[in-house]
Parts: sequence; structure tokens; C-alpha cells
Amino acid sequence: MCGIVGYIGDKDAFPILIKGLSRLEYRGYDSAGVALISSKNELNVYKCKGKVADLQRFTESKDVSGTIGIAHTRWATHGEPNDVNAHPHYSSSEHLALIHNGIIENYAVLRKQLESEGYHFRSSTDTEVVVFLIEYIQKKNNVDLCTAVQLALHQVVGAYAIAVVEKGNPDCIIAARKSSPLVIGVGENEFFLASDATPIVEYTQNVVYLNDEEIAVIERNKPLRIVDLNNVTVTPEVKKLALNLSQLEKGGYPHFMLKEIYEQPETLKDCIRGRINVEGTHVALSGVIDNCEKFANASRIIIVACGTSWHAALIGEHLIEDLCRIPVEVEYASEFRYRHPVILPTDVVIAISQSGETADTLAAIELAKSKGAFIYGICNVIGSSIARATHSGSYIHVGPEIGVASTKAFTGQVTVLSMLALTIAKVRNTITEEKYLSLIKQIQELPERMKETLKCNEQVKDLSKMFTYANNFIYLGRGYNYPAALEGALKLKEISYIHAEGYPAAEMKHGPIALIDNEMPVVAIATTDSIYEKTISNIQEIKARKGRVIAVVTEGDTKVCNIADTCIEVPKVSEELCPIIASIPLQLLAYYIAINKGRDVDQPRNLAKSVTCLLYTSPSPRDYAAS
Ligand code: G6P
Repeated sequence: MCGIVGYIGDKDAFPILIKGLSRLEYRGYDSAGVALISSKNELNVYKCKGKVADLQRFTESKDVSGTIGIAHTRWATHGEPNDVNAHPHYSSSEHLALIHNGIIENYAVLRKQLESEGYHFRSSTDTEVVVFLIEYIQKKNNVDLCTAVQLALHQVVGAYAIAVVEKGNPDCIIAARKSSPLVIGVGENEFFLASDATPIVEYTQNVVYLNDEEIAVIERNKPLRIVDLNNVTVTPEVKKLALNLSQLEKGGYPHFMLKEIYEQPETLKDCIRGRINVEGTHVALSGVIDNCEKFANASRIIIVACGTSWHAALIGEHLIEDLCRIPVEVEYASEFRYRHPVILPTDVVIAISQSGETADTLAAIELAKSKGAFIYGICNVIGSSIARATHSGSYIHVGPEIGVASTKAFTGQVTVLSMLALTIAKVRNTITEEKYLSLIKQIQELPERMKETLKCNEQVKDLSKMFTYANNFIYLGRGYNYPAALEGALKLKEISYIHAEGYPAAEMKHGPIALIDNEMPVVAIATTDSIYEKTISNIQEIKARKGRVIAVVTEGDTKVCNIADTCIEVPKVSEELCPIIASIPLQLLAYYIAINKGRDVDQPRNLAKSVTCLLYTSPSPRDYAAS
């Protein structure tokens, strides 16, 4: 949701903080700010509405000296994006400055209490309440900053990753987390602090992931110290990062989104690596094998997720029911956590999340855990909260996804789900050897098929020009391709701001067909599958009402191409894997339409890469299975 960076060491903090903010800008980008303890020992806070580049301009003539500082890029929750609500926030006397990612749920009560003590707040944020509270406690009890933070956090209900610096104390940053991520980079005579490892990787590979309700005392030239809220010392566990810098840069592409679309043949190779044997006769996710009894005997599988990951989950439902014959339910994590779902100890719950930090998905996991279900995670970000909160899981291994609109994570999630379904199907003996071997072979060939699919780039780019000024779009698909249609519509909405809806093609006649006229573009996924002929009938219904049909078809298709206005050909793969291939032209179509409209593709308005701000109860850290 928001991005946090911190630095203490022997270098100038400001350039490191600004670079770090730029790397984290995908987490939020409506305002940015920095707090530095200057060479004159002053605590300077500079912040403004807008992007990190605006902050850089704003600070051009300011004193940005200092070798200690904290910085923030915001995605507004409490209070509109403006200069005052931007972080860092000063305490009342301007003795402290604090940055925060998360939501303080009891901020209104705390604010009232502090107002009754004579405090006046400057912003509408929940964050300002925390820094005022810390200062109030520090003064009242005459304690050091770490103790004041501990005492304050005992009173705070909600999710937080915070970092605080203190005027006159240029040698210490205090940081803490609960339900929002925080990583500490351990360098030579220096420490870094960030919401994820992306700002840290170019300086050090050694990191410590802070756990819930832990406080890091990060002091110059001293070893890192971690305590919990009750001041019990915790030994920091230093881990090695598996990230490299080039993964975080655009590599010659104009946008991260296009780079990530083009990376997919490679990311799928990484996703598959080590999971299929060289001979192509066996597929296994080690997390599933380690827990094969649980999967084999599951009375039901529930998949929880949000956004694009939820679309991947819908494909997972088809895969698992088709291949493993286990009943599957797919739930929006945000609905699941607030209703009163029936969860049995014999259920297996799969949580899918690119970031591994989505608050609703975490809360759904906690709920299912409390009912005794076995929880399996499918995440991209290694060491993320969901990876640690689940009993076991599989990483999708597609590398950092920076573009806010998810692309390579989606295809990675579906690929992992297909390997998961095959692993379980084999254990349960619900698949024929012929089908098993055929799907394994096709999964191995996916990177090559992806490469071939990407050749549609120029065609899609040209096509996009005809539709840039459309106000609405409909996306249709059936079976495995229905979730792919939903995902195509979501991509277009997210980055072009054009209204787009995905429907199961046959459902059109029950209402949505009333929307069809010669102005309505309809994107139909009509690849050759078991319901191809039925999809053709649905396309005919659209054409009969003069809708403009763009069809994604299997190469060599003639039937659909005779009816549709435009056809984009994709290589033939079996229907179980088709959404992985069919999503490529849809990602490109959304990308080029958004570009034609002059949209900020990597940082679309109102969105954030991961929505981490809602409260959930503490996860217990667990190790992930090797794959
Ligand atoms: C946000 C992002 C979406 C993403 C969703 C779920 O809304 O903008 O692109 O699909 O969160 O994120 P997750 O990290 O849990 O997959």
C-alpha cells in the first residue's frame, strides 16, 4: 500500500532514500516525503503531493544533508493526498518524525484522548496520531524512544510498519511492524530499511525480515537489536536475498508492464524449473508431495484470493475439479473473511497472492487456520507474510513484478496451479497416463508457445488504435477461458480506465446482450476447445446485433475468422493451459490502448500494487517447502 525506506550509515542518506522510494513507488504514488537528521543535527521533513520526482524537485534548494533518514511514498487511506497528509509526520513538538504503512483502526479514540490532553493535529491521517502518542508517552514517562514506541504500540490496534527518528539522536532509527511488511538490510557499517527488498538489493544481500510485534533498534556502528513489545530480546535471523538488480529495472522497455509481458517465456521457465523431471514423465510440487495425504484426502479445496489472483483461482477450480475430482470453491478473500463460512478440518485452503501481503487474503488464512484447515500458499514474493503464514506452499518464481497491473504473476500462478492439479491427480489416480504425460509435455513447451504468441504484438498494437476511443468493452469466454476473459477486462479497466466487463459467453443472452450495438467492442476468446462450437454460436449472436468482435482464436482457425471482425491467432495448446496463452494478446491490447490514451500504465490512478492495510491477527512464521 505505502512504501517505506530508511537508511543509517556513513553515506549521504538522501540519494539512497530517493532511489529506494522510486523502487517502491509501485506501492503507492500519490505523495512522497523524507525526514533527515542534518549535519547540523536538525530534523528536517520535506514532503509533497505527487510522485517521487515531484519530491526531488521540491527538495532541490533544501538542506538534504545527513547520513540518517526515513522516507515514504503514499497510497492514501485516511485523508486525501495532499502535502499535509503526506508522510513523514512530525510529532507535536517536531522532536520526532515517523512514517507508516498500514491502518491504525483505533486512531479516532487515540486522537480524542490526545486532543483532551491539549494536542492539536495538523493532518487527517491515522499516522499522525501514532507519532503524537509516542511523544506524549516519551515525555510523560521520561523514557527513551524505543520504550516509548513499545508502550505506544501496546495501545495501537491495527496494521503498521513504522520507522521513527528523533531530533538530536542522529545514531538511531526505531522501526516496528505488525501485519505490514518490513525488511532490514544489513550492510558494512550501514543499515537499510524498506517495505520490501527492492530498495536494498543493490547495497546488500543480507536481510532480516521483521516479524509481527517486533521492534528493531537500528543504531549506527552497533549490531542490529530486535526486541518485542514486552522488551524481550529476539535474535535477528539474517537471510540471503535471491534478487538481482536487473530484475528491478526496465531493461530497455518503455514500461515495466511491457517488460513483464515480454519476460513471460523466461518467467515460465523459472516457474517450471525443478518441478518437471528432465524426461518429462513426472511433475511434482514438493509442498504438495510433503503434504500429499492432506491433498489426497481433502473433502474440499477452498481457494481464496483477490484481484488478478482471484482470476487465477477460478482457473485453478477448473483444473482441480477436472483433473483431481475434488470439489473446489473459489472465494474473494475480502468476502470470505467477513462472512461466516463453513470450514472443516478436512478442507484444504489455497491462498493465492502475488505480493504475499494482501491483507484480506491474510485474514482469510487466519480464519481458515483457526478452524483447523490446512493452508497452502501460492505466492511470488519470497519470505512474504502469506508465505510465512501458510503451512506450506509453492512460489511461482516469476521475479519481481513492478507494473501495478499483474501480468507475469497471473501466468505463473496458473502454471503452478496446473502443476499442483497434476501432482494431486497423480496421487489420487484420477488422471490417465496419456493425459498426464500430454499435459506435462505441454507445460514444458509453454515458454516456447509464449514466445510464438508474443509475435502478435504488432497486430495488437495496430488494432488498439481502432479502439482507443471506445467507452465500453465486453470480454467473453467459456470454460477455462471465462476467467481469462475476466482477467482481460480487468487489465483494460485498470490501466486505460475504460469500462470493461467479462462474462461467460452464454450468459450474454440473459441481459448483457442488450448492451450490444455497432459501437460495442466485444473481445471473444474462441480457441478450439470442448465448447468451441458453442462459443461460435455466442459470437454469432453478437454479430447479429452488429457488435464489433475481436476474437482470440487458435492458429489456422477459419470458422470464427469468417464471422469476427478481427482475429488474433494463438498457438494450439490444450484447453487446460489455454488461458496462459490467451491472456498474452489481452495484456497487450490493454497496454496499447492505455498508451494511446496517454495513461500512466505502470502506476494507474487510484491503484496500488499490494493492498496491505487491513488488520489481521498475527501469523506464525513457517518455512516454505523448497519449491
Ligand atoms: C491489488 C493489485 C492487483 C492484485 C490484487 C491482489 O489490487 O492492484 O493487481 O491482483 O491487489 O494482489 P496479490 O498480491 O494478493 O496477488
